[in-house]
Amino acid sequence: MSFYDVLAIIGGFTLVFYLLKLAWGCWCGFRQFVLSELWQVDLRTYGQWAVVTGATSGIGKAYASELARRGLDVVLVSRSDDKLQMIAEEIEDQYGRKTQIIQVDFKDGQSIYPAIAEELQGLEIGILVNNVGMSYSDHFAYFLEIPDAEQFPLYDYSDQKITQVINCNMLSVSQMTRLVLPGMVERGTGLIINISSEVGVRPQPLLSLYSATKIFVTYFSQCLHAEYKSKGIIVQCVAPFMVSTNMTRNMTVNCIVKSAPEFAREALNTVGHSSYTSGCLSHALQNTVLSILLPDWFRMSPFLIRKLRNIATASKYDERVCKEKLGEKEE
Ligand SMILES: NC(=O)c1ccc[n+]([C@@H]2O[C@H](COP(=O)([O-])OP(=O)(O)OC[C@H]3O[C@@H](n4cnc5c(N)ncnc54)[C@H](OP(=O)(O)O)[C@@H]3O)[C@@H](O)[C@H]2O)c1
Repeated sequence: MSFYDVLAIIGGFTLVFYLLKLAWGCWCGFRQFVLSELWQVDLRTYGQWAVVTGATSGIGKAYASELARRGLDVVLVSRSDDKLQMIAEEIEDQYGRKTQIIQVDFKDGQSIYPAIAEELQGLEIGILVNNVGMSYSDHFAYFLEIPDAEQFPLYDYSDQKITQVINCNMLSVSQMTRLVLPGMVERGTGLIINISSEVGVRPQPLLSLYSATKIFVTYFSQCLHAEYKSKGIIVQCVAPFMVSTNMTRNMTVNCIVKSAPEFAREALNTVGHSSYTSGCLSHALQNTVLSILLPDWFRMSPFLIRKLRNIATASKYDERVCKEKLGEKEE
């Protein structure tokens, strides 16, 4: 066999490998986003109640409403009592499902979980949506610019932004899971949906802390799914791109930016089809395109960091000018 024959065989195997990989990717995408429109899991089979954290606006509110629409009673967990009451009434009126509200601030850390456990006692919880999450800056910012971190006395850790972000984005996910998982294991069924982010798939400079907390959510979900799937528990990690919510300053909905209700509907369709998803076809396509056009070495390069920073500074400036102009008009 000549050297060229060997090269041809290696080339052939490589081509077949990539064609198979492409075919597998297409099948997974088709199953997740096309087939799932026709064939959906009956979410009531997991249990009577769904618990949603951060349920008073954005993605959490949309998940809570969609779960109620699909026949589940819903426990809403958030900070603001007024908003909780309002959303609960809305869900009861619109879908005729039972609701329960729990008012807590996830920033407070460990101290809130005994109270949540007490409220959840006796409920058959089939679904947990770990949605609550916070960012710390409207714009791309260096780690040392995380606002407020330095304004609090060093000994009072509970008031520090970094601790708050960790409590809200990471501690909540593991502690809420710990509260509901034993019941699910006992019944041999359950679904835990953890909302990560596209910046929890790959590291994102200038969003360092947020990105790191979301990578925690991604890994935690994947490991937990592997540990508990044989016990009948599905742990799904959802990693969206842009969804129009308060967090993204209610950006205009278009083919890139999803509305929260539409996102929650499509993402819930993927349950049973995938344990890791971007949530909707548009975000899955953006993920594929970005991973090709924006490889990690480029994403992490000083050049791109400088560019992102310049964009952030320019948009901050535009915003300030707009606000000043609005202020002048009002006067
Ligand atoms: N929007 C996006 O484009 C996007 C993209 C990727 C990932 N995500 C993730 O999706 C999740 C939801 O984001 P969102 O955009 O829907 O945010 P959002 O519109 O700001 O809603 C956040 C929800 O969490 C509640 N909340 C915030 N801080 C809380 C706290 N300390 N304790 C208790 N509840 C709290 C808020 O209610 P109260 O203010 O009443 O407490 C609200 O219901 C987050 O985990 C976020 O990281 C969002």
